[in-house]
Amino acid sequence: MAANFPSLLSPATAREALWPNTNAAPTPIDRIRRLVWKIAIATLALMAVGSATRVMNAGLACPDWPLCYGQLVPQQQMNLQVFLEWFHRLDAALIGLSTLWLVALSLWYRRQVPGWLPWAAVGALALIGVQGALGGLTVTQLLRFDIVTAHLGTALLFFSAMLVIACCLLPYRSTGTVGRLPWIGLAALTVVYTQCLLGGLVGSRWAAHQCLGLKELCQVMNSHLLGILPSTAMVLALTWTVWRTPALTYPLRRLGSLVSVLLVLQLVMGIATFRLRLQIEPLTVAHHTLGAALVGTLVCFTVLAWRDARSDLSQNRLESPPEGGRLGTAENPSTPTVSTAEV
Ligand code: HEM
Ligand code: HEM
Repeated sequence: MAANFPSLLSPATAREALWPNTNAAPTPIDRIRRLVWKIAIATLALMAVGSATRVMNAGLACPDWPLCYGQLVPQQQMNLQVFLEWFHRLDAALIGLSTLWLVALSLWYRRQVPGWLPWAAVGALALIGVQGALGGLTVTQLLRFDIVTAHLGTALLFFSAMLVIACCLLPYRSTGTVGRLPWIGLAALTVVYTQCLLGGLVGSRWAAHQCLGLKELCQVMNSHLLGILPSTAMVLALTWTVWRTPALTYPLRRLGSLVSVLLVLQLVMGIATFRLRLQIEPLTVAHHTLGAALVGTLVCFTVLAWRDARSDLSQNRLESPPEGGRLGTAENPSTPTVSTAEV
């Protein structure tokens, strides 16, 4: 049984990996990883503000773009709706600048960080550029539903990109016993991401309001309700497989349980949003934010599971331990292996 196997990365080690001892001088990888976690958390908060902007009907509260009423700070027009839209743009600009800083840091330290990092940082910067352009189009095209949905989809992609980079930079002790979990993680992630896009379509077309009130656009609403089935099935399959897999690392075990908790909360929020006929705006914002958190947790799970699987593969191929801190040996594949980002 799984419970008989030790968790090879303990809670203390996991905490140390996520928030390394601040007394020790941080390495360039530590500095960059901390920056990436901060950008990821700020993006989740920004997505919640974006959802509040939509739910509060504040999408066109600033009628022009990139300025708001032709000003940097529209003091005279300021009210809750203008504030939401203006703050959303300000926050987005800060995230854009932080991503530029990430590119600069990864280029500056390019000899001390993995070769893929500068490329990944430039890719993330390109994504944020696309996101800013979609944000502008959202306003100039008067909240066209396909643009609003694409804006949500790119936001989730950028958030995921940050988490992929952060998880690839984590020092990670693998056990090489993940089996099919990387694929199950990827499948669950794809299904839940699609479910979020369907939710975005419902929101941007106001399909729930229309279906409940006028019996119109019910097929859009129903597509999101149908999407609950594959999402729930994949997340439960993932958690079940995690429970059944012995000797998994502590982060994989915890993330595997967390996705189920988030799914249950998300279902409860969705049902409450629906039953209360979308009258409680914070509920819809919470539903949106939990959906993004679910995607983020699945991204972290999948990346760590792939890192585990890759270390398993290379372990089978290698006769002798390579450079990079591997603790396991080819003769004893069950020995845990430690890898940080490959430099
Ligand atoms: C890092 C950059 C950005 C992120 C992560 C982001 C994220 C989001 C998210 C998740 C939503 C909610 C979409 C939904 O509920 O379906 C949203 C809404 C919105 N965003 Fe952004 N956004 C960013 C940048 C911008 C920029 C630069 C603008 C420029 C005008 C903008 C304008 C809007 C508007 C107008 C809405 C409301 C859409 C509506 O009312 O239907 N966003 N944003
Ligand atoms: C895996 C489960 C689910 C995920 C990942 C998910 C995700 C989402 C997302 C990301 C949105 C967009 C919110 C926004 O644009 O701000 C949304 C909207 C919505 N969801 Fe879900 N959802 C799930 C389950 C449910 C359930 C179980 C229900 C109800 C039975 C539901 C009802 C709704 C409704 C009514 C909206 C539209 C809100 C609006 O118009 O403002 N969802 N969902």
